[in-house]
Amino acid sequence: MHSDATREIGVLDGTVALVTGASSGIGHATARALAGEGAAVALVARRVERLDELAAEIDKAGGRAVVVAADVTEEAQARDAVARTVDVLGRLDTLVNNAGVMLLGPIVGADLDEWERMVRINLLGLLYCTHAAVPHLLDAAATGPREVADVVNVSSVAGRVARISNGAYSATKHAVGAFSESMRQELASRHVRISLVEPGATATELGSHNRPEILEQMAKRFAGIERLQAEDIAGTVGFIVTRPRHMAINEVLVRPTEQEG
Ligand SMILES: NC(=O)c1ccc[n+]([C@@H]2O[C@H](COP(=O)([O-])OP(=O)(O)OC[C@H]3O[C@@H](n4cnc5c(N)ncnc54)[C@H](OP(=O)(O)O)[C@@H]3O)[C@@H](O)[C@H]2O)c1
Repeated sequence: MHSDATREIGVLDGTVALVTGASSGIGHATARALAGEGAAVALVARRVERLDELAAEIDKAGGRAVVVAADVTEEAQARDAVARTVDVLGRLDTLVNNAGVMLLGPIVGADLDEWERMVRINLLGLLYCTHAAVPHLLDAAATGPREVADVVNVSSVAGRVARISNGAYSATKHAVGAFSESMRQELASRHVRISLVEPGATATELGSHNRPEILEQMAKRFAGIERLQAEDIAGTVGFIVTRPRHMAINEVLVRPTEQEG
């Protein structure tokens, strides 16, 4: 699998990971980190050029990556993304449900289209990918090189604490938390670990889809605070999925040191 003879053996050698939202931010950094640990990675998102660039970078470093263009809000595309991963890379050991969107604003007078986009991407997309992946993850845990499989769901501080102006976003992330805990209990005895990662403010493109007045409020809220980098969260995901089989990191809340709420 790895052409570079000088590359060290990684904990995830022989395993396959699928990362949604791998075209930017946390997903991009996570795919790179998992490839660095030896996993072959399926890069899933809509912006294919960005995925192509990352795949080339991973290949050059001696890893293996496959680009899968998919909109995870379309059930058939989410299912095909998982199927293509297994067809091309042979198996699936790790699913990172990371694709997401955050559109903030008051509940009164809110744009329903924004709410629907968040529910479809942050919640339905995650459910579709999970549904398609579970049989393969169970198989990996039963027969794979590590005899354990992982789902890492990227939630948010907003999945723990609701605030004024994040009502619908926070609702989607709370739902992800509830689903993750239920799934964790159901699959624990079969060695499929379910982990929830809840980042605070991280320097990515996430906020950029908001309206100008919201961007202004966000800039004020985080003025002077050194944000987390995507690599900080990628390292957290990497830590989670490289733990030994008997150890499951159920939940990690990671804030920038100076972020209070
Ligand atoms: N940045 C933060 O401060 C922060 C804090 C807490 C939680 N999070 C969570 O972290 C996750 C990643 O966000 P990020 O900060 O890295 O933001 P980002 O840079 O905007 O990345 C979002 C990713 O999601 C993908 N995506 C969006 N809609 C999609 C769809 N319909 N189908 C497939 N992929 C889709 C995007 O790719 P395409 O556009 O190419 O499809 C992109 O790769 C999100 O779940 C977010 O809620 C972020």
